[in-house]
Amino acid sequence: MITISELGALRETVAAARASERSIGLVPTMGALHEGHLSLVRIARRGCAFVAVSIFVNPLQFGPTEDFARYPRRPQEDAALLDREGVDLLYLPDAEEFYPKDFSTSIEVIGPSEGGEGAVRPGHFRGVATAVAKLLLRIQPDVAFFGRKDLQQTAVIRRMVRDLDFPLRVEVCDVVREPDGLAFSSRNAYLSPEERRHAATLPHALFAARDRASAGETDARALVRRTREELERAGLAVDYVEVVDPETMRPIERVCPGAALAAAIRLGKTRLIDNVLLLEER
Ligand code: PAJ
Repeated sequence: MITISELGALRETVAAARASERSIGLVPTMGALHEGHLSLVRIARRGCAFVAVSIFVNPLQFGPTEDFARYPRRPQEDAALLDREGVDLLYLPDAEEFYPKDFSTSIEVIGPSEGGEGAVRPGHFRGVATAVAKLLLRIQPDVAFFGRKDLQQTAVIRRMVRDLDFPLRVEVCDVVREPDGLAFSSRNAYLSPEERRHAATLPHALFAARDRASAGETDARALVRRTREELERAGLAVDYVEVVDPETMRPIERVCPGAALAAAIRLGKTRLIDNVLLLEER
C-alpha cells in the first residue's frame, strides 16, 4: 500500500493506475476505522482492480459546537488495517492544502439534505458534499463506495453525482452491526460502558418497527409514534424518528417496499444515527 498526502503524487499515482486500464474504487472515510468501513473496503476490493481509501476528518462538515477537535484519530492503526485488506492507495489530504485560506466554494444539494440530519446539523451536508466532490475530482474513481448507515448522506451524494454528471457509479453498502445490533460507528468510542449497553435500544426499536411493518402496519405515523415511545421510555433523547423515501429523504405516510425508518438519538454527549429498510426482502 502506498500512502500519499501530496496532490501531485496523488495525481501521478491514479493516472498510472488508470493508464493500465484498471478500474479504480474509492472509499472515502474520516478514519478511526471499524468493521463498517472495512466492509466497504472489502466490497471495493472484490469489484475494483485498484482500491483507494481516503482518511480526512473534514472540518467543513462539523458544526461549531460539534466534536471536530475530539473526533478519534488513529492514523497508524488505520494504515495497518488497510494494508492488511490489500488496499492500494491510502490518501491522507493535508487540511491546509485541501482548503486553502481563501477557499470559497461549496456544494449545496437542496432537497435530500433538508430534514433529518440536515435540520439538526445545519451546513453538515454542504460540508460533506464539498469534500466528497473534491475527493471524487482528485481521484476520479470508477466506483465510489458509501454505507447506508449514513442514509441521508448517500441520498445527498447520489443526487450530487447525478446532477453534476460525475462520471462514476455510487455503490451503497449495507449497515454492519455489532453482535447486539448497534451499528459500528467511530463515535461509539465516546460511549461509557453503561451507555454502550444502553445504545442497542436504538437498533432494537428500529428492528421492532421493521417487524411491525412486515406484519402489515402501513401507517408510517403509527410506526414512528411507537418507535419514538420505545426510545423515550428507555431514556434516550430522540432528535427525530421518521419514515422516508431514501432517494428524496422526504417523509412518507404509507409504508412501501424500500421505505426507510431513520432515527437519531442522544445518549449523554453522544449522538447516534441508524436506519432500517422496511418491507425489503432479506
Ligand atoms: P465516516 O463516518 O468515516 O464513514 C465512512 C463511510 O463508512 C461512510 O460511507 C459511512 O456510511 C460508512 N460506514 C460507517 N459506519 C458504517 C457501518 N456500520 N456499516 C456500513 N458502513 C458504514 O461518512 C463519512 O465518514 C464522511 O461524511 C465522508 C463521506 C468521508 C465525507 O467526509
